Amino acid sequence: MAIRNIREMGDPILEKTCKEVKEMTPRIRELIEDMLDTMYEANGVGLAAPQVGILKRIVVIDVTGEDPYVLINPKILETSGEQCGPEGCLSVPGKSGIVTRPNYVKATALDVNMRPFEIEGEELLARAICHELDHLDGHLYVEKVEGELQDVVPPAAQEEEEA
Ligand code: NI
Repeated sequence: MAIRNIREMGDPILEKTCKEVKEMTPRIRELIEDMLDTMYEANGVGLAAPQVGILKRIVVIDVTGEDPYVLINPKILETSGEQCGPEGCLSVPGKSGIVTRPNYVKATALDVNMRPFEIEGEELLARAICHELDHLDGHLYVEKVEGELQDVVPPAAQEEEEA
């Protein structure tokens, strides 16, 4: 298990376009394992490779905490509907903002064995797919925020206030 350093907004690597993965290698397998560890350690629901400084088209997503998806070279095939709600990003710590996303997303990607599969999701999963795929093209959710970014009060501070 290895936790990688999460790049934060202002780091130019987060603004770059990532390259497709051509073949699975031991290094990329290790990267994916580390991305999952890093996402869980940070209590995130998704993480894209550029967030750990690697410009490859790989994202990990887990909106339930027990069922991770690994998406390599993902592409959105279909979207429908609309949802408007708060969104955050591990690269923009302590902040959230309101973003409108499709309510349903269908995407295709390769799995860790480089086999194609389709993923479809609604609500939070649809939002996470859109958010993470944006990272692969150098985009952060803050570009899409309606109104101002809000400060998120960390749970520890909330407990202190309540105590
Ligand atoms: Ni993000």
